Amino acid sequence: MNPALTQIGTQMSNLTGVRAIMKDIIETLRSGAGQQFINLSAGNPLILPEVEQLWRDCTAQLLASPEYGEVVCRYGSSQGYAPLIEAIANDFNKRYGLKLGDRNIFITPGSQTLYFYAANIFGGYTTSGQLKQIVLPLSPDYTGYGGICLEPKALVAYKPTLDIDAAGHRFKYRPDFSQVTITENTGCVIFSRPCNPTGNVLTDEEVKKIAALASPYNLPVLIDSAYAPPFPSLNFTEMTPVFGDNILHCMSLSKAGLPGERIGIAIGDEKWIEVLECFQANASLHSSRYGQAIAALAINSGALVEISETVIRPFYQNKFTVLETSLEQAMPKNLPWFLHRGEGAIFAWLWLENLPITDWEFYQELKQVGVIIVPGSTFFPGLNEEWAHKHQCFRISLTGSDEEIVTAMQRLAKVAQEAYQRTAVSA
Ligand SMILES: Cc1ncc(COP(=O)(O)O)c(C=O)c1O
Repeated sequence: MNPALTQIGTQMSNLTGVRAIMKDIIETLRSGAGQQFINLSAGNPLILPEVEQLWRDCTAQLLASPEYGEVVCRYGSSQGYAPLIEAIANDFNKRYGLKLGDRNIFITPGSQTLYFYAANIFGGYTTSGQLKQIVLPLSPDYTGYGGICLEPKALVAYKPTLDIDAAGHRFKYRPDFSQVTITENTGCVIFSRPCNPTGNVLTDEEVKKIAALASPYNLPVLIDSAYAPPFPSLNFTEMTPVFGDNILHCMSLSKAGLPGERIGIAIGDEKWIEVLECFQANASLHSSRYGQAIAALAINSGALVEISETVIRPFYQNKFTVLETSLEQAMPKNLPWFLHRGEGAIFAWLWLENLPITDWEFYQELKQVGVIIVPGSTFFPGLNEEWAHKHQCFRISLTGSDEEIVTAMQRLAKVAQEAYQRTAVSA
């Protein structure tokens, strides 16, 4: 018998966005009956030996220190482990010329949790019954924003404009400032930079313009910097984090090799840090202290930034080049395929304009030839209007071997060619 669930229970027990597809992928892999798949669907980073070694070394250092008992045998503060907060404040103050104090930093069990707290503190119904929206200024964006608000009506996303280089088969999304609306009905703004799934990096000017639109309403702009410098530094184009009075700079250590330890970080004005901290005290007390303690060691020694720049970034940037080159070689020039500019993150984003079948059907056909990528329509949380483009895109993870990426792009090119040809014949 199904358990009796509340409204929130029902809502939260539904898998949203890409997680629903992941179920299909896991079942496909399980029932593959000996078929070998090249799986380029994962959002899970690869284990890079140098990165694993860094965390092993920091763990050994923690184990040998008198602090060990204090870290794992005691409860701590809901704001976060003090040495980690201090390490981040020192690093960011030096690196970016900021004046962060210990009340400007907050640690959560992974950044997903941080967005859940923020979405429900700032989005949803106020005590006077007003619906405050969570604005995603540029759709597509991180699929995980789709399930974070207990009041799903609150999530509103805006269609972008497209910069298209037709001859080069490249494109880039830009926020459409003629559409993006931030008013007294907005509770907060969220976007990822670099962006999962597209690899887009909003320019400094675009970020400042969004922050300026929000500024009169005293609401936070959360910049999801899960792939940004200084760690994990998964930007392939120049970018500097943008700070400001109404910006909550949000980070994650997941792509810097610690996804299992669940560490999210928010940096911003004390008034917001305080409400986030209270929410966390009620929801989960605090984040695990072991991960926070080893992170403090890796930040203080400078090793985390160093490894990010010399190992993590070049590894994924090289994967993007392999993917880009193999697509160029395999894809017919006369097909309307467009690769999003690879400016960061661990994914490539492919748009097949006027694709005669849906992204879901294309995904199924690609599975038949042993390749798994993610249909793009799951990456438009909050964008409820119909838009053909939503069904013409795919996220391809850069987590395969070079050989796998090359083979997968060759097979993808063939499936795409056949799909376009079929309609040409039947038309
Ligand atoms: C853009 C973005 N934000 C947030 C997250 C959540 O990361 P975590 O909760 O592991 O910090 C992810 C994970 O893939 C992501 O890609």
